[in-house]
Amino acid sequence: MAAESTAISRCTVLSRWLLLAVSLTVACGGNPATTVTGPPPPLPRQLDPLRKVIADRGLKIGIGTAIGSLFNNTTDPAAGQYMTVLTREFNVITPENDMKFGPLRPAQNQFRFVRADSMVAFAAANGMKVRGHTLVWHQQLASWLTGGSWTTDQVKALLDEHITTVVSHYKGQLSAWDVVNEAFDDDGGARTASFWYSKIGSGYVEQAFKTARAADPDTPLFYNDYNIEGMNAKSDAVYAMLADFKARGVPVDGIGVQMHLIAGALPPLASIQQNFARLAGLGLKIHITELDVRMNLPATQEMLATQAQNYRDVFNICLQQSACEMVVMWGFTDRSSWVPGTFPGQGDALIFDSSFQPKPAYTAINNLLAGK
Ligand code: G3I
Repeated sequence: MAAESTAISRCTVLSRWLLLAVSLTVACGGNPATTVTGPPPPLPRQLDPLRKVIADRGLKIGIGTAIGSLFNNTTDPAAGQYMTVLTREFNVITPENDMKFGPLRPAQNQFRFVRADSMVAFAAANGMKVRGHTLVWHQQLASWLTGGSWTTDQVKALLDEHITTVVSHYKGQLSAWDVVNEAFDDDGGARTASFWYSKIGSGYVEQAFKTARAADPDTPLFYNDYNIEGMNAKSDAVYAMLADFKARGVPVDGIGVQMHLIAGALPPLASIQQNFARLAGLGLKIHITELDVRMNLPATQEMLATQAQNYRDVFNICLQQSACEMVVMWGFTDRSSWVPGTFPGQGDALIFDSSFQPKPAYTAINNLLAGK
């Protein structure tokens, strides 16, 4: 049955964490349409902040955001409003870039933890959980690594050294790790255009999970990917890998479904539900890890309404699947999103506009969580 956009009475009794974590997207193509100073715009009447809505209803939900360049920013006039909305609405953070290999390790013997540490400290000071992103990826690597002439054994040792150092550094401080990100192509084949694959072969994925578990036995370990929302060749391949890992005792605890979506063009909701059900059947936690719903610009009222429904439907699917613990949106303000820089002519993918006005999508999510 397609997920209905109805209030979910179960969510009042669910004893699971639905973490609404918003990973602030920074960077490329942020749209600072207006200078924003002073307090952020007020929420629509009768709407409490997401964090309060969830607490008042006794939902086991954490609300928070990852932090990008607007965090602790001392030059952007929007930084103050960003931090106000961030703390008001969200109590989970997910570093958008600062825990990735390149930003974290500019030189082989230099780990730059300061910025990510400040995020973790901010989270602790504000009752926020932290989702680690990401230990092993084919992008945002360091030039000393990709430019080196390494043997396979050297790369295996470098992988273990990196994971062990980073995971040990944050041991006991995170609620999840994206251990490996995006290891498959859309046709379901292995992503061979990857430094790790080219040097180690497909075994780097299993190696990464085993090494992460050895460094931290308690933090849940996730595989994270995009275009695996519904039933398709890629999600089939991911499912097969995870089923094999579970069968062989390879330490994996969850699946991160990124959900970078296009307004009005979601996969069929029933297909997403079917995919989530089979993943849950493996005993995996499900996190929606990078939800955003982009549209062609300029945005129209009609498309904003469609976007609102899309957001509500995705949250509803998570609320209805007991294994789905977390919804991560890849940013919360259109002022700062990866989308315009990656998809020219598209944007407005998030739930606050570039002036921190809540959009229809915010209201739709808020109403759903409030049981309306
Ligand atoms: O920090 C440097 C800055 O010093 C430099 O001046 C500037 C210009 O070169 O680049 C800055 O780094 C940029 C970084 O974002 C921080 O802004 C990188 O060039 C840029 O490539 C990087 O983009 C990030 C992208 O991952 C990397 O591929 C996006 O912000 C981030 O939103 C995006 O997030 C990924 C997830 O991690 C995985 N899933 C897909 C998602 C979207 O691509």
